[in-house]
Amino acid sequence: MLLRMFLGSIISVTMAATNGQQEHGPPHPPPSPSSPPPPLLLVSFDGFRADYLWQYPMPNLELLYRGGVLVEELTNIFSTKTFPNHYSLVTGLYAESHGILASNMYDAAHNKTFSLAHDQDPFWWSQALPLWLTALDSNYSTAAAMWPGSDVAIGNRTATHFLPYNASMPFAERLAKVSSWLRGSEQERGVMFTALYWEEPDRTGHKYGPDNTSAMTQALKEVDDHVGLLVSELQRAGLWGRVNVLVTSDHGMTQCSAQRLIRLDDCLHPNNYTLVDLAPVTALLPTQDADKVFDLLDKCHPHMTAYQKKAIPDRLHYRNNPRVQPIILLADEGWMIIQRGDLLPTLGNHGYDNALPSMHPFLAASGPGFRQGYRMSGLQSVDVYPLMCHLLGVAPAPHNGSLAKARCLLQGEGCLDVALVAGVVVGVLLLLTSVTCLFGLMRPRGPRRPLQFRRLHLEEGEEEDDDEPLLD
Ligand SMILES: *[C@@H]1O[C@H](CO)[C@@H](O)[C@H](O)[C@H]1NC(C)=O
Ligand SMILES: *[C@@H]1O[C@H](CO)[C@@H](O)[C@H](O)[C@H]1NC(C)=O
Ligand SMILES: *[C@@H]1O[C@H](CO)[C@@H](O)[C@H](O)[C@H]1NC(C)=O
Ligand SMILES: *[C@@H]1O[C@H](CO)[C@@H](O)[C@H](O)[C@H]1NC(C)=O
Ligand SMILES: *[C@@H]1O[C@H](CO)[C@@H](O)[C@H](O)[C@H]1NC(C)=O
Ligand SMILES: *[C@@H]1O[C@H](CO)[C@@H](O)[C@H](O)[C@H]1NC(C)=O
Ligand SMILES: *[C@@H]1O[C@H](CO)[C@@H](O)[C@H](O)[C@H]1NC(C)=O
Ligand SMILES: [Zn+2]
Repeated sequence: MLLRMFLGSIISVTMAATNGQQEHGPPHPPPSPSSPPPPLLLVSFDGFRADYLWQYPMPNLELLYRGGVLVEELTNIFSTKTFPNHYSLVTGLYAESHGILASNMYDAAHNKTFSLAHDQDPFWWSQALPLWLTALDSNYSTAAAMWPGSDVAIGNRTATHFLPYNASMPFAERLAKVSSWLRGSEQERGVMFTALYWEEPDRTGHKYGPDNTSAMTQALKEVDDHVGLLVSELQRAGLWGRVNVLVTSDHGMTQCSAQRLIRLDDCLHPNNYTLVDLAPVTALLPTQDADKVFDLLDKCHPHMTAYQKKAIPDRLHYRNNPRVQPIILLADEGWMIIQRGDLLPTLGNHGYDNALPSMHPFLAASGPGFRQGYRMSGLQSVDVYPLMCHLLGVAPAPHNGSLAKARCLLQGEGCLDVALVAGVVVGVLLLLTSVTCLFGLMRPRGPRRPLQFRRLHLEEGEEEDDDEPLLD
């Protein structure tokens, strides 16, 4: 009887792990094998920290993921900056492998400099192949609206359609472009993949700091209104329910303070290094004695860790690239590295260690390829690329992600939540072991007493293991 109960619970929990928590609404019809897959729209709202989802009302976004899937926290890549993470989402590669390591870079061998204002040289982007190019190889047309890198001719190619970066172009105008690309025209079939980028809530997070709830409330209401606009535009165009839509972000945000400044000039003279990037990950090139420079920086500040290139931890995947400078300085969460003075550059920032939850974004998705009303607590951002390739039926380029866990998000996929199943099995084994031990302990006490007698004993307060529910 006990055994049957345990087996029953194993089976039911395993089924729950396999099928997701709740499924509702009619299932989408499976696509016929010959028809092309549904088009894919990837949307990024820059700097959308995962917990904004619960801290602020997000009615439109909630409607989207309730009818689809939600990954509550996406572990992004180091450095937790905008360009590295946007390129990671569309390549599935860590920064050391796709080559966009920071907002400011220097390549000593080629004497080239990269910055957000000068990012157009294909040299920087050509260590990887973004999805808008991968999908061209399957003869699909593709598009991108201001996604970082999408206005650069990588390997001499761009997406079929793209918009040059223009910060003052409103969301509605970018969305109108995306919608027309997806619809296509009489001359041209609609695109199979398009990406859409929007600057908020990053801009407000930097300017006012994520702890300014009145500023963030307003910025996030605007973002949620944009999600509403996106859904209604897709509905108007007859695309809603026929397109797989992913809404995600590149990184989170944390509060900074003028009380948490680290001044490099306090530790060494600026003549000793060339500054490549500053905060919160400082990259520098020593001009003279590199070991001496490192020693000075190493003991510079308790809230700053200095790494020589060879000692950068594996888990950051931030070493195997000539664009990584000989010395990297990493500030603790909320600390800012500056050269001198008392000026806090921004009230909010990101770029910190990607193990910090405050640096993590989320992922929501909806469409014929996704389950409905399914939630997952976490996923790696490098897993998004193989997921998108799978949805498009496109062969992925070499990447660092995995489809194993992301598969659970998909409609009609047999998916085993390995962690949950393993947890259940271990739990049941522990329970079985302890029950066996209990019976083992009881047995040597001689012949079993009648049930009533044992109850009486309990009422008298005698210490005894409470195994009543098991015997009933
Ligand atoms: C590197 O390029 C800069 C201009 O971009 C130039 O001033 C400098 O001399 C170059 N250095 C070397 C070593 O070629
Ligand atoms: C793409 O089209 C070209 C030219 O029509 C053809 O040679 C190639 O096999 C196609 N590739 C795929 C993946 O369908
Ligand atoms: C890129 O395209 C241009 C013109 O289409 C051509 O002249 C050039 O050789 C190409 N470069 C590479 C690296 O393929
Ligand atoms: C940027 O977009 C705005 C709004 O559509 C437009 O008025 C402006 O001309 C654009 N700027 C450039 C350089 O294209
Ligand atoms: C918070 O942001 C608002 C703008 O939305 C600004 O007026 C206000 O001064 C900020 N408060 C603080 C404490 O920074
Ligand atoms: C740092 O620069 C100063 C001023 O140029 C110089 O005197 C000093 O020797 C340098 N220190 C190191 C460790 O290179
Ligand atoms: C990431 O993927 C690239 C391309 O396949 C590979 O070269 C690199 O070694 C991978 N990185 C890790 C940490 O596995
Ligand atoms: Zn960003």
